[in-house]
Amino acid sequence: MKRYVVTGGAGFIGSALVRRLLGHGGGEVHVIDNLFSGHEKNLEDVRSKVELHKLDIRDYGGVAAAVAGADVVVHLAAIPSVPRSIHDPVPSHEVNMDGTFNVLRACAEAKVRRVVYSASSSAYGDTEVLPKVETMLPRPKSPYAVQKLTGEYYAGVFHSCFGLETVSLRFFNVYGERQDPSSQYSGVLSLFMRALIERRAPTIFGDGEQTRDFTYVEDVTALIWKAATVPGVGGRVYNAGNGDRYSLNQVWDSLQKIEGVSIPPKYGEPRGGDVRDSQADTTAARRDLGHDPQYTLDQGLRRTLAWYKTQ
Ligand code: UD1
Repeated sequence: MKRYVVTGGAGFIGSALVRRLLGHGGGEVHVIDNLFSGHEKNLEDVRSKVELHKLDIRDYGGVAAAVAGADVVVHLAAIPSVPRSIHDPVPSHEVNMDGTFNVLRACAEAKVRRVVYSASSSAYGDTEVLPKVETMLPRPKSPYAVQKLTGEYYAGVFHSCFGLETVSLRFFNVYGERQDPSSQYSGVLSLFMRALIERRAPTIFGDGEQTRDFTYVEDVTALIWKAATVPGVGGRVYNAGNGDRYSLNQVWDSLQKIEGVSIPPKYGEPRGGDVRDSQADTTAARRDLGHDPQYTLDQGLRRTLAWYKTQ
């Protein structure tokens, strides 16, 4: 029986991935999570089918024990958020860099067959060209972007120097069910959803014309599965976006239309470290991994909103 380990498996993307892995059947699913931003509640309906290792990826011994015997490890555990990495850089540095090194080292020691690493579109920074293609020289603008990019470089080097099969996926602003809206550092769409349901104006930092390639979580977990299983892609880096881009103003307009309300947003100062425009070139992921996003933004927003309303 195959054994899958998901670091950050009690988080927003991780818990969606755990459901997908269990849905494929025939495998054992282990989760490593310190429950810092993940929640056991995210795994409520599948809790009896999952082994949860409550530990921090900064604990090498704990990680090594938890990945022993794994066939596939998907490394999602991180302290996300560009502004958090600016306001409080030490924890995000330790988790996103030292923690990632620990996971890769433990996987190499355990001879894990494939490791999928959650890299970030933030690596591109404000490179002029859109959409962003993997061959561009990265231009990280924040500690978070540097940390995620360093993890990606490490994943590549663990492949070339230690023979560990790694695949890095650069996520582009993932949204969907279970994204936690409770912090100032939460993803913008989770904050928009909560504002909409509470009939409050969201705050938009800057003029709202910045654009993002918002990617629905189910499309991301489908791609992770492909990155975990397609042969011959060890050491590679792929964009994991949808291939479109929308401004924050457009998305807030769409949400108001879906709900049939009119709530003008508040505008605040632009946020430090923010990238202006982000859009994935999905050519390589489609060609090599069979990436095939299924959800338009409108479909993803409707499904996500329906879930938030049940909470
Ligand atoms: C960045 C990465 C993304 C990564 C995420 C992890 C880029 C292009 N994307 O997302 O791949 O997964 O970090 O944290 O670098 N905003 C508001 N009002 C709010 C909150 C945010 O206007 O209340 C704005 C931000 O200023 C930003 C946009 O919304 O312009 C998106 O912000 P956020 O959801 O935090 O994600 P990114 O920083 O773009």
